[in-house]
Amino acid sequence: MHHFTYINGILHAENVPLPEIAAQVGTPFYCYSTATLSRHFKVFDEPFGGVDHLICYAMKANSNQAVIKTLGDLGAGMDIVSGGELKRALRAGISGDKIIFSGVGKTETEIAAALDADIMCFNVESESELHLISEVATARRKTANISVRINPDVDAKTHAKIATGKAENKFGIPWTRALKVYALAASLPGIKVTGIDVHIGSQITDLEPYQAAYERVGELVSALRAEGHEIQHVDLGGGLGIPYRHGDNEPPLPKEYADVIKKAVGNLGCKIITEPGRLIAGNAGILVARVVHMKQGEEKHFAVIDAAMNDLVRPTLYEAHHDILCVVQPAPGSPGQEVDVVGPVCETGDYTATGRELPVLRQNDLIAIMTAGAYGAVQSGTYNTRALIPEVLVNGDDFAVVRKRLETDDIIDLDNMAPWQ
Ligand code: LLP
Repeated sequence: MHHFTYINGILHAENVPLPEIAAQVGTPFYCYSTATLSRHFKVFDEPFGGVDHLICYAMKANSNQAVIKTLGDLGAGMDIVSGGELKRALRAGISGDKIIFSGVGKTETEIAAALDADIMCFNVESESELHLISEVATARRKTANISVRINPDVDAKTHAKIATGKAENKFGIPWTRALKVYALAASLPGIKVTGIDVHIGSQITDLEPYQAAYERVGELVSALRAEGHEIQHVDLGGGLGIPYRHGDNEPPLPKEYADVIKKAVGNLGCKIITEPGRLIAGNAGILVARVVHMKQGEEKHFAVIDAAMNDLVRPTLYEAHHDILCVVQPAPGSPGQEVDVVGPVCETGDYTATGRELPVLRQNDLIAIMTAGAYGAVQSGTYNTRALIPEVLVNGDDFAVVRKRLETDDIIDLDNMAPWQ
């Protein structure tokens, strides 16, 4: 469910007509809905009522300060994967004790910054990282709380580029080696074992892999406790899929997912941590673009829009489908046309949709690329020296630019000539 709907034939974000935002900020732009963000957080949170838990929003999905603040105000913690995300979380007012640090490549500097912020836990992904955290913590006279991220070797049945829980993936420590690595952790100074962690992938639409992974976590908690480790929390990662295609089979509901969790690990007496990203932000954002040209090719019709793969890379990187809506609602029965919706970047891979049946588009029409709130703006770049586009947050009748456009002059100003030039 989201709050982008037609009111009197015009697509609105909550109560704000999108053409009004377009007129003020120009196109293309990302637009987020506060009501949708809040709703998704609550829908995910509610089934855990009465259970000791913390939702650590995976801010990699959308790390805009205003988005993080919206979720932080609802009680969310943050799952971070870099020193940059740590800074973003702290600047948005998230307290360190609600921050979990995931990722395979934490550097000495990042570890030090996280220790200084007294974060809740490091999700450790290798023995090498464990040694480094121990050294940095000892030097700073700090104790680092850690979980070991185990790789449960389950197939999440998702796109290969976003599956993380198979033995061949770079993530986590093989579950078969978990006891050894926990023994190492317990022997190192500056380290305190507090939990266990798993994350098997993203856009997962089947509960079975979760069940397999979480049962494995449950077994490991018992085995670790038998060895004397104090496991206070289980971090079960994120990854629950969302509907991208109108009318598609709906992915499992958060409540059904919560039931799987409760069944597998609910009786361990552990705090339950989850790290949803896409589920919170995905349908809470859209990308609004304008048709620059309609073009008749030899074999196809093309709608050339002013947004490109540098703004939203998902279609070309993951063969992802995003629904496209006309901002001005076509009259019932108006003609359709099959088009490729493409951008101005000089690559054939620069498309938002191929072979898509849409209402006949015209030059200057506004379109909305749906479900772009997660892994949209955060994965954008300035390829072809294209401006980094603005992000807008809507709340009821109000909207605000929450990231201004990075103009092309600002981009060029980042370069300078070498001294000999
Ligand atoms: N926790 C960890 C350790 C993760 O690596 C991820 C996502 C999440 C949580 C959140 O997963 P989510 O709930 O958002 O599915 N750029 C790709 C998705 C990459 C996901 C990476 N890890 C896409 O656009 O589909």
